[in-house]
Amino acid sequence: MPVIYEPFKIKTVEALAQLTRGEREALLEQAGRNLFLVPAQAVTFDFLTDSGQAAMSTEQWAAVMRADESYAGSRSFQRFEAAVRELCGYRHVIPTHQGRAAERILFSLTVRKGSVIPSNCHFDTTRANIEYGGGEALDLVIAEASDPRNRHPFKGNVDLERLERVVRERRANMPLGMVTITNNSAGGQPVSLENLRGVSRILRAAGVPFILDACRFAENCWFIKQRESGQAHRSVAEIAREVFSLADGCTVSGKKDALVNMGGFLALNDDELAARARNLLILTEGFPTYGGCSARDLEAMAVGLHEVLDERYLEYRAQSTAYLAEGLERAGIRTVQPPGGHAVYIDAHALLPHIPPEQFPGQALACELFLHGGIRSCEIGSVMFGKRGEDGAFVPARNELVRLAIPRRVYTQSHVDRVIELAGEVAARASTLRGLRMTYRPPYLPHFTGRFEPA
Ligand code: F0G
Repeated sequence: MPVIYEPFKIKTVEALAQLTRGEREALLEQAGRNLFLVPAQAVTFDFLTDSGQAAMSTEQWAAVMRADESYAGSRSFQRFEAAVRELCGYRHVIPTHQGRAAERILFSLTVRKGSVIPSNCHFDTTRANIEYGGGEALDLVIAEASDPRNRHPFKGNVDLERLERVVRERRANMPLGMVTITNNSAGGQPVSLENLRGVSRILRAAGVPFILDACRFAENCWFIKQRESGQAHRSVAEIAREVFSLADGCTVSGKKDALVNMGGFLALNDDELAARARNLLILTEGFPTYGGCSARDLEAMAVGLHEVLDERYLEYRAQSTAYLAEGLERAGIRTVQPPGGHAVYIDAHALLPHIPPEQFPGQALACELFLHGGIRSCEIGSVMFGKRGEDGAFVPARNELVRLAIPRRVYTQSHVDRVIELAGEVAARASTLRGLRMTYRPPYLPHFTGRFEPA
């Protein structure tokens, strides 16, 4: 097979930080061993998130200059609205400053105490917004998703039998149903078109609105084209149109597949709900033709939503993620299989079996990757999802993962090769790593501001 190369050349460069281990040690300690609290100038390879990290294209920067910053009715909004409508086909396009702002507006209008919102897996901000309103964020992903070695091609799928049952039993308290594409919280795994059709059928039969969390829609549609029988001949754009047509609206963080640094939107078909959403938008985000964005953000998103459907780009994107996973596996580090679209998830439990979940093996590994190589990653395990049960006992997360999320169009193959080398060196002395104790646990989203010390 020919080498799949980065389908772009580089026009502007940024130097990488090159600190010593000692310098990183001091900074990590000051940060309470929380990589979100480490200054970015200490990070050499920043794989904390793929969100808002994209390198924008010349066409996006040109659009930024074209932006019309009029407070109301700007031409940029019209271009943005047209781009979103062309992609999703929904009637109402409501710009927000990022994905969680769209979630907050949607759930403050729909969730009440006792509401239940089913999904494959809710992302953490989605879950927090639902729970903040007194609702239950219910994950119904298929059982295969919790086995990191299971190579099911669509591990993001919803368990349709369980969905049917929940809809039957709790319809009265179900203001809407969701599916996250791709399923970030369970390994960046895609959802099949067949499964989305099934969810749509079940929810529509019960009159439950279906909202997609679609921030990585293009990567999901690429996997449908690659892996689902009968889809190879269709363009990704065509598949995307069908995917959106199965739902009644979407929340989108533009910071992922819209290839921008800031922006997002809520799109809906329901006229009444959209009118109420616009009223709330004005309270916290801004006038409906800019939401929480500047016009230049809207312009960049409009171009990004188009560029991301380029199949050369999507092929490179999926291949470069898989390349990182293969390299780590060769270095003896187990990863969630098959690799997802935007990230590689290391199985920290498999690498550090001597560290129990209540001592956060994922966080311990993330800290060591940073100390050793300046690699910043993110724990997705018991820091993020661990709980205290009613009896006070610790309830660990389903898996102890460390996510290396790959910014779009930012790092080259030699960067990835070096990361593989450094991670391999850490893995070679895995048995010497020690667990952590949480010294501060905030009530919401503990991974952002929690603090740790050696156990
Ligand atoms: N939904 C999913 C599936 C996400 O991955 C994110 C963000 C959001 C919603 C919220 O969007 O950040 O624009 O408010 N995920 C980032 C991540 C933060 O690192 O995975 P946002």
